[in-house]
Amino acid sequence: MAILKIARMGHPALRAPAAPVGDPTAPEIRALVADMRETLCDAEGVGLAAPQIHVPLRIVIFEVPAERSDEVAVPPTVLINPEIEALTDETALDWEACLSVPGMIGVVPRLTHIRYRGVGLDGGTIEREARGFHARVVQHECDHLDGILYPSRIEDMGLFGFADEIRRAADDEDEDDDYEDEGDDEAAA
Ligand code: NI
Repeated sequence: MAILKIARMGHPALRAPAAPVGDPTAPEIRALVADMRETLCDAEGVGLAAPQIHVPLRIVIFEVPAERSDEVAVPPTVLINPEIEALTDETALDWEACLSVPGMIGVVPRLTHIRYRGVGLDGGTIEREARGFHARVVQHECDHLDGILYPSRIEDMGLFGFADEIRRAADDEDEDDDYEDEGDDEAAA
């Protein structure tokens, strides 16, 4: 296994649409996912997509710890060739961060309720409904497969900036309810 270099915003690897995986059970896919897991663990993020480590394939991994979710925790998951189906038109705003956009956070609208499906390393189908933070993480990761980074989804660029500056501003006006949820909630993906 190896810790891989993560591409940062501006690198062409992050803008190219990724290709479907022909055989999700192939040994080289298993080896790639092992490296992705080690890389994600080292970076202390919640999700990682293969294009972020310069591999143009439709593979994402993620994990939703219980403290990040108002639901139950989502175990470490590998999704190969994922698809997302909207189960609502409703979107919600929340802070996001990305391992490819280090040091920054922004408020991004995401669908609040989705169904996603993909293939696991064993070749079996994974299909789940997701809401809230879980749904947000999956949408963020799958965007990477289409060459989309979260800053391009931000509607109010006043809510985008360096995490330490935004945290400091929130601390300075801690009675400001607009920022009450800011700070520790965003998780790099
Ligand atoms: Ni990301």
